[in-house]
Amino acid sequence: MAVAARRVDPFGTTIFTEINQLALETGAINLGQGKPDWEPPAEIVEALTRAARDGGHNQYAPGPGTVALRRAVADHARRFYDLAIEPTAGVVITAGATEGIFAAVLGLTDPGDEVIVIEPFYDSYVPNILMAGGMPVYVPLHGPDWTLDMDELRAAVTPRTRAIILNTPHNPTGRVFTRAEMEEIAVICQEFDLTVIADEVYDHLLYDDARHIPMASLPGMFARTVTVGSAGKLFSATGWKVGWVHGPEELIAGVGRAHQFITFAVHHPSQVAIAAALELPDSYFIGYQTMYAAKRQILLDGLLAAGFTCQAPQGAYYILADYGQHFSGPPNTFARELIARTGVAAIPPTAFYSAEHAALAGTTIRFAFCKGDDLLRQASAQLRRMAE
Ligand SMILES: Cc1ncc(COP(=O)(O)O)c(C=O)c1O
Repeated sequence: MAVAARRVDPFGTTIFTEINQLALETGAINLGQGKPDWEPPAEIVEALTRAARDGGHNQYAPGPGTVALRRAVADHARRFYDLAIEPTAGVVITAGATEGIFAAVLGLTDPGDEVIVIEPFYDSYVPNILMAGGMPVYVPLHGPDWTLDMDELRAAVTPRTRAIILNTPHNPTGRVFTRAEMEEIAVICQEFDLTVIADEVYDHLLYDDARHIPMASLPGMFARTVTVGSAGKLFSATGWKVGWVHGPEELIAGVGRAHQFITFAVHHPSQVAIAAALELPDSYFIGYQTMYAAKRQILLDGLLAAGFTCQAPQGAYYILADYGQHFSGPPNTFARELIARTGVAAIPPTAFYSAEHAALAGTTIRFAFCKGDDLLRQASAQLRRMAE
C-alpha cells in the first residue's frame, strides 16, 4: 500500500492549524498565530496591484529575486545596521523567512551535522534540520528572564556541530539578546567554527531601551553568518510570503543553490512592492514600533488583570504568560480550557520544545498581540473570566 514517507512521520499537524481550527469552530478571539488582522500599508498594496496590472511582472522573477528587491534588502541592511551586503550575490529572496531558513539549513549543513537550536524555538527549525539529514541539539533559555547559559551552549558543541540557529528578537519569549550576550555567543561560534543562521525577522520590533544587534555586525562574524528577514513581519503582509537571506557571497551561494530547487523564484509582483516598501522613510519603521508598543501594553495589562504572570517582552509581538495560578495541567490542555472558559485562543508552547524538554514549557501559553486594539481589549475583558 502507498504510504507517506517516514521522514514526515514525526511532524503531525502544526499546533497553529489545530488552534486556528478550534478558534474557528468556537468563534474564539484568536491570539494564536502571529499574523496581523489589518491590511498592509495602502501604498504597498497599490504597488503590488500596479505591478500585476501594468504587466512585465507576471512571469517568473529571476530565481534569486529581482535586482531591485535584492538591492533594497542590501540598502536596508546598510541603513539600519551599517552592513555592507553585496546587492546581487549577497542576497537571495525566498518564500518568506520560512523558506529562507530551510534553504539556509539545506545549503549550509551536511547530513550528519549537528545544528544547535535554542529552546523554545520557532517550530520550523527542527523539521528543517531533520529533513536536511541533520541532528538538532537543544540548548534551553532560562525563565523568567529567558537567559542563555553560555556554559550550556559551549557544552552543547561537539566535533560534529556545524551551525547554530539564533533568533533575536525572540519568538515566543520576546527576549532581545544584549550586545554582551551576542558577543559571548560570537566568541563560541568563532572558537568552534560554527555557521550562524540568524533569524532576525523581528528586527524592527523593539520596546523600551532594547536594541537589535545583528549577529553579522559583530567583529569576525560577517563571514560566518547568514541573516534571515521577512517582509511579512515588517509590512504586515504575512500572506505575501516574501523573505530574504543575506550574507557573505560564499554562504549565500549555498543558500541560493538550495532555493533554486525549493521554490526557484518568489511571487514577482510582491517583490516589486516590497522593494519599494523597504525604501520607506525611517518614520514608517518608527510608527510601526510605536503602534506595537501600544498593543503590547493593552495585552500586558489584560493578562496581568486576569491573573496571569508575565513580563513585558523586549521585542517581537508575543507574550509568553504563566497560567499556573489558574490551572495545573499542561499547556496543550490549558489551551483548550482557555478557549472553553474565555473564548480566547492562544498557542501552547510545547511545540517549541524538543520532546525530551517538553516539561520546560511548564505552565506557559503564548499570546500574539499583532491584533486590532479593540480586539485586544475585548480579549482582555474575556480573559478576566479566568480570574472569576
Ligand atoms: C522567529 C520566526 N522566524 C520565521 C518566521 C516565518 O516568517 P515568514 O512568515 O516570513 O515565513 C516567523 C513567523 O512567525 C517567526 O516567528
